[in-house]
Amino acid sequence: MARKTKVAVLISGRGSNMEALVRAAKAEDCPFEIALVLANKPDAGGLAVAAEAGVEALCVDQKPFGKDREAHERAIDAALRQRGIEVIALAGYMRILTPFLVDAWEGRMLNIHPSLLPAYPGLDTHGRALTAGELEAGCTVHLVTAGVDEGPILGQARVPILPGDDDHTLAARVLEQEHRLYAATLAEFVRGL
Ligand code: GRF
Repeated sequence: MARKTKVAVLISGRGSNMEALVRAAKAEDCPFEIALVLANKPDAGGLAVAAEAGVEALCVDQKPFGKDREAHERAIDAALRQRGIEVIALAGYMRILTPFLVDAWEGRMLNIHPSLLPAYPGLDTHGRALTAGELEAGCTVHLVTAGVDEGPILGQARVPILPGDDDHTLAARVLEQEHRLYAATLAEFVRGL
């Protein structure tokens, strides 16, 4: 079997995208393995999901670092390097990064965002798309750069917005596509490294 690229998934919450990546990585022809799932909070539900799936689940709690986000990121970076991680996949990692981590992993850190970027960066993407009367929504996988949700786009998936949709129905329709898109785009990305 060919060597697989070692990926770390960074999460803050339930980790359904992480779970989709872990599942995809089990296929023999998948070019990446999920070598680590790392959360910035001990109560991130995805940590237990990862451990159950047999993946190392690590919390680098942001709390002891207080407002020093860079010191927290240095601890994260050390954990990643100790494990020989080659690529980071942010998946619902809800903390804005400092230039330290962004620069250290330039070209090797991906994020998934639940909108058709460049439309609706930031939070409450579904609510804002609905209020604006959009007919279409979707998700984007992109490289992480200094600007939030601004890096080069690697892949997108589109879904219709249907009459009667609310935040929840739309988020669920988009999430299904996120799970498919992230695994496919990450595979394509690591094949090109
Ligand atoms: C997803 O919608 C992702 O696009 C966004 O945060 C959400 C995380 O969900 N960045 P999950 O933790 O992967 O279930």
